[in-house]
Amino acid sequence: MNHFEYGPEGLACEGVPLAKIAAEVGTPVYVYSRATLERHFTVFRDALALAGVVDPLIAYAVKANSNVAVLKVLGDLGAGADTVSEGEIRRALAAGIPGERIVFSGVGKTRREIAFALSVGVAEINVESEPELDLIAQVAADMGVKAKVAFRVNPDVAAGGHAKIATGKSENKFGVSFAEAARLYANASNNSSLEPVGVACHIGSQITDLEPMRAAFTKMRGLVEQLLGEGLSVERLDLGGGLGVPYFNSPEPPSPAEFAAMVGEVTQGLPVTLAFEPGRVIAANAGVLVSEVVHVHERPEGRKFLVIDAAMNDLIRPAMYDAFHDIRPVIRRGGETVYDVVGPVCETGDTFTRDRALPPFTTGDLIAFMSAGAYGAAMASEYNTRPLVPEVLVDGDRYAVIRKRPTYDEILARDVVPEWV
Ligand code: LLP
Repeated sequence: MNHFEYGPEGLACEGVPLAKIAAEVGTPVYVYSRATLERHFTVFRDALALAGVVDPLIAYAVKANSNVAVLKVLGDLGAGADTVSEGEIRRALAAGIPGERIVFSGVGKTRREIAFALSVGVAEINVESEPELDLIAQVAADMGVKAKVAFRVNPDVAAGGHAKIATGKSENKFGVSFAEAARLYANASNNSSLEPVGVACHIGSQITDLEPMRAAFTKMRGLVEQLLGEGLSVERLDLGGGLGVPYFNSPEPPSPAEFAAMVGEVTQGLPVTLAFEPGRVIAANAGVLVSEVVHVHERPEGRKFLVIDAAMNDLIRPAMYDAFHDIRPVIRRGGETVYDVVGPVCETGDTFTRDRALPPFTTGDLIAFMSAGAYGAAMASEYNTRPLVPEVLVDGDRYAVIRKRPTYDEILARDVVPEWV
C-alpha cells in the first residue's frame, strides 16, 4: 500500500497534489511520502514480530535512498542502517541513528573507512574477504580497539532476477566462500583485535521468489550451528535485504508476512538475534519522480517520442537494468497513445520505455514515474551537467524540500582551473 492517489487536483502524495509541488519546486523532482515510508517499515517490523523473531536489528539499506530526512523518519521508528561507505555512515549518524544500530558492509572498505567505522562504534563490520579481515585487524590494533566483525558468507545460491544485482553465487565478488567461513571465524576469535559477532548473507535484490532465500538462510543456519558446536560465540545472524516489490509488470513478490513466516520457520530455536538489511521494500513505493513533457515528437514513419525533462542521469534503472516503472499522468485523462518516453541526454540508452500505451500528452503536461523511491535519487548523477534532482518529503498536507536542486553557480564552483592552464 502507498499514499499516491488521484484527488480533485490530480495525482497527490498524501494530501499534497504533485502538480503543486511541480509548480513550486520545479521539475524533475522526487517526491516521497512519509506515511508510506513509515508504513513499510512498521509492516516489515510487525511481520517479523508476528513470526516470532525477537528483537531483530532492522538495518535499512541506506543505498536505496540515502536522504538524511528519509533516514531520520526510519531511524525515529527504531531502524538501524546498513551502510557501504564512510559517507553513508555519516548520513546515518546525521539522522540520529546510533553507531550500535549501524552495519558496515561493502567489498572494498578502505583503511580510513574502517578506522572511521570503529571510531563511531558500529554494530558490526561485515567482512567480505580474508585480506579485508587482515586490514580490519591491523586498523583495530593500531587504534587499540576490538573490531566487531560479522562474516559475509557467499552461500552460492542463485536468487533469480537481474544478473547485475544478483550477489549470492560464488562467481560474484561478494563475501567469503561458505567452505572457508568456519576457519576464518575461528581464526578471528583468536585475534585479540577482533570480536566475531556473527555471520551475514545477502543474495541479491528485487527477489520475487522465497525459495532461494529459504535455501540460503537454511545454509546460514547450518553454519551458525556448526560454529556454536565448535564452541565459538555467535550473537547475530544477518540475513541481508533483497525482498522484491511490485513494479506492476513484475511477478507479484512475496509479502513481508510471507517472508517473515519463512524466516521464522528457518531460524526457529536458533539462539542468536537476527538482523535484516531491507532497502527497496521500504523505499521504492514511497517515492515518485515527477517530470514535465518538453515535446511530443512524431516521426512520419510512425514513432512518437515523448521527450521529458527527466533523463537517465535522474533515474537510471530503465537504462541500466531494463527496469519497468509505471508511468502515470499527474492529471488523469482518457484515451491511449503509444509512446517511446525519452530524456534529453545524448544517448540512445536515455530511453525510459518503448512502445508504452499512455494517455495522450502535450507540452507542459506532468507525468509521474511510480516506485522510484529506491535507487532513484540515490543513483542520480550530473551527467550532461544536469543539476541533481531535488527531493521533497510530504507529510499529510505539508511538504518540505529535503534536498535542494543545486544552482549552476554551485555546480561550476566545484571545478578548479589551475592558474597554469
Ligand atoms: N544489503 C546488501 C549487502 C546489499 O548489497 C543490498 C543491495 C541491500 C542490503 C539492500 O537490498 P534491497 O533490499 O534493496 O534489495 N541498484 C539496483 C539494486 C542494487 C542492490 C544492491 N545491494 C536497482 O536499482 O535495482
